[in-house]
Amino acid sequence: MSAEETPSPAAGQHASGSTAAAGQADAGAAAATGENPAAAAARLTVGVLGGTGDQGRGLACRLGLAGNQVVIGSRDPARAVAAAATVGPPPRVTGASNEEAARAADVVIAAIPWEGHRDLLAQLAGALRGKILIDCVNPLAFDSRGAYPVRVDEGSAAEQAAQVLPGCTVVGAFHHVSAKLLLDPDIAEVDLDVLVLGDDRRATDLVQALAERIPGARGVYAGRLRNCAQVEALTANLVSINRRYKAHAGLRITDI
Ligand SMILES: NC(=O)c1ccc[n+]([C@@H]2O[C@H](COP(=O)([O-])OP(=O)(O)OC[C@H]3O[C@@H](n4cnc5c(N)ncnc54)[C@H](OP(=O)(O)O)[C@@H]3O)[C@@H](O)[C@H]2O)c1
Repeated sequence: MSAEETPSPAAGQHASGSTAAAGQADAGAAAATGENPAAAAARLTVGVLGGTGDQGRGLACRLGLAGNQVVIGSRDPARAVAAAATVGPPPRVTGASNEEAARAADVVIAAIPWEGHRDLLAQLAGALRGKILIDCVNPLAFDSRGAYPVRVDEGSAAEQAAQVLPGCTVVGAFHHVSAKLLLDPDIAEVDLDVLVLGDDRRATDLVQALAERIPGARGVYAGRLRNCAQVEALTANLVSINRRYKAHAGLRITDI
């Protein structure tokens, strides 16, 4: 049976804040029992690399509100603690170094700029080993004509992560989720689909379920990691849409 055909994960029973080892063991138990990915996602401790930025704080905020334990990571732990205090709810969202956030989490979101992507992930390879790494990084550049995708030797940011982190299961997701919407306390529901890409069915199912913990978001499987480049690049189109229409546009996939 290929990874693509492996059954969905089911939840283990570890409490929020559990160790990554517990998360891995639970994921295995989940796969064995065929339990619902939503139940597994509810128990995940989520680390956010670069969680002091808008995207990381936005995801931390929504997942914390949904009941997940979240550890915001930073190159400067004091900055992470300060960021955690701004998104709350305490003590569900905490701050630490990127490495501590990676070690404490069951799944880790990379919410860092493209420019620092490879180096930071390479530094954290040990802490991330055996975990699911969710990559939402869009390799974009900007000039007077707006945003455009940059060439990535590995194909995409997510594929670069997979190359740098051979011991990790990399999933692409949250590329098109506007941080502005996530951080707006007046927006109860975000109204968008989250495209989820990866080569391991158990991991993509889990990340889809995690995305759906954000009110108004639906996780949609969108293909293998090799198809992540155009998903990342599409963000340049969304930036253009946002500029023209003064919006924070998201995607909806029809007929599913
Ligand atoms: N903003 C959005 O609406 C949005 C939506 C979808 C996807 N994304 C993607 O999410 C990622 C983060 O976006 P953002 O707007 O939150 O970015 P950002 O604010 O520029 O950066 C996020 C954090 O990354 C850390 N960082 C900055 N430069 C770094 C480097 N060279 N090496 C390691 N860490 C570095 C910083 O944290 P410390 O200084 O505390 O370490 C910073 O607070 C981007 O790749 C973007 O494409 C963003």
